[in-house]
Amino acid sequence: MGGPLKLNPQGYVYQELLRIKMNPDEFATALQTVANSGNYHPRFKTYYNHMLEHQDLPESDVAPFFLHTFGTIYQYNKTRLGRHPNFWADRQCKINEGFQDKLDMTSFDDRDHYDQLEKIIRDWCASNPAPRKKQDLIKLLEKLFKDEDSGFQDLELEDLEFLGQMDYVIQQGPQAALLAHMNQLTFYNNEWLPLDPPGDFPDPLSGETIAHCFWGPVRKYKHKGEWIVSKCINLAKLRTNLSAQQRFNDYPPSEIASHRYMQNCFHYDNPGMKSCPYICKLKGITEDSQSKNIFYWMEFGTDYFSEIASGYNKELKKWKKFLRENNLGRSHIRSTKSPWEKKRCLDFIKLARGMEFMHKLGIAHRDFKLENTIMGLDGDVKIIDFGVGHRFGFWEQKNYRCVDRVGTATYMSPECSLVKRSSRTRDVRVRLEQYDHWDARANDIWTLGVALFMMLFACPPYDTCGNTDTRFVYLTSGVFMPQGRKIPPNANLKSLLKAYSRLAMVSDDCMDFLARFFLPERQRITWDQIWSHRWVQEILDQAP
Ligand SMILES: Nc1ncnc2c1ncn2[C@@H]1O[C@H](COP(=O)(O)OP(=O)(O)OP(=O)(O)O)[C@@H](O)[C@H]1O
Ligand SMILES: [Mg+2]
Repeated sequence: MGGPLKLNPQGYVYQELLRIKMNPDEFATALQTVANSGNYHPRFKTYYNHMLEHQDLPESDVAPFFLHTFGTIYQYNKTRLGRHPNFWADRQCKINEGFQDKLDMTSFDDRDHYDQLEKIIRDWCASNPAPRKKQDLIKLLEKLFKDEDSGFQDLELEDLEFLGQMDYVIQQGPQAALLAHMNQLTFYNNEWLPLDPPGDFPDPLSGETIAHCFWGPVRKYKHKGEWIVSKCINLAKLRTNLSAQQRFNDYPPSEIASHRYMQNCFHYDNPGMKSCPYICKLKGITEDSQSKNIFYWMEFGTDYFSEIASGYNKELKKWKKFLRENNLGRSHIRSTKSPWEKKRCLDFIKLARGMEFMHKLGIAHRDFKLENTIMGLDGDVKIIDFGVGHRFGFWEQKNYRCVDRVGTATYMSPECSLVKRSSRTRDVRVRLEQYDHWDARANDIWTLGVALFMMLFACPPYDTCGNTDTRFVYLTSGVFMPQGRKIPPNANLKSLLKAYSRLAMVSDDCMDFLARFFLPERQRITWDQIWSHRWVQEILDQAP
């Protein structure tokens, strides 16, 4: 392989580059990188030599060539691929490196044979909404491996060991799983690995218990001059829960994998992305000497929720005094952010940045609430608790489709709250576009709206997510009211705040902004609209 790559501008490859907006020079450089690395797909050489010789490929080879060279990003997000061809080519080389010696140790005939199975797994992932069950994929594979005519009858589950954890495969797909495994992020037989040396952390039992999570105590320590916490995961409790009828949703190995990914590994899949200071820092994972408990170490933060609850009235008094002393009235309140509103706006921006960072990585939190935030000792509010979070695959980036009811009842969106409920329950409560699935990104944004309401007014917007709760009707201006039912003429956010006596410290821009969160999924405010809204824009430069 050699010589500069020239393409026929009328050819299929060139036309494809135009279509996916990939710069031909960058394309040529990316191919050179692949050729030089030696870690290419077995078919790459044939395609590449053909292109050097004929300045093009036959039409039917274009798609397989791009797929083998750049990976599944070509199949699922061509625009994203077009922006960073070298990154994706290089990533695919790393993935290919992962196959090279590993496949020889399995019963796969060759790479084509594996590619066929990978396509079956990918298609299964793509046709099953979250949360996908590992057992369902394993059943499908076992059936294939038993079927004499499937072409996979010589395989066993252990042949897939080189992909690392199956939990990873079902969330982010086989190639991302392989990459994570190659980077020592996951291991096939032990979902807790990699563990950190216990000697790097304090004696886990020596800390002061500050809270409880479902799996055990949360303790606080001063260690090497900084405050850290451990979340204790009792493994016996975890095993009992896995076989219980009524299972607790939260799955610690997945939480830890998501946290590790957000902190250390997101750059495998996201060119140029920087880490986010508004996600609580993970410090490490250890196990006790009898393998009874896992300790999940993080930076410590104070309770942001109680800071809000105890701060509101004091700030309101101060604000009213200021207005009185300066002879200012309603028009000032309506047009100006109070010091409280300014602080809440800054905190909101940080939390929104944290959540948007997660979404950019393909992760939905799915249980966002103020109780799942902390105030870091550096003064930044941060997101914690990724126990029911989900890492979505490339194929799901347009829509984070979920079918389970998950999260906290007083925070979750109507579409999540009522998913798969009986028609009697839901018809009374809420009119929705669909009742069988919801988008985790839009749901996270709804929960961010509920959190913002709590941050601004130190009280929840509603108790029940449905029109049986009058406050919900007012908050949403009746947009979820079933047809034929009357909406009160003054049903809007302002009337709700008036009834709560919460109008003394909120600007008009703030109310306009807040109301946009409590709309049906497809009308709900999006990230672009959040960042361009005047209420946020006014203060954005103060939030580094
Ligand atoms: N890094 C931290 N700093 C300070 N407190 C923390 C930290 N992490 C967790 N906590 C405390 O422990 C509580 C439980 O932790 P977490 O929310 O992660 O577990 P959980 O089992 O998912 O809890 P829940 O089901 O109540 O949401 C938090 O609400 C918080 O009070
Ligand atoms: Mg929690």
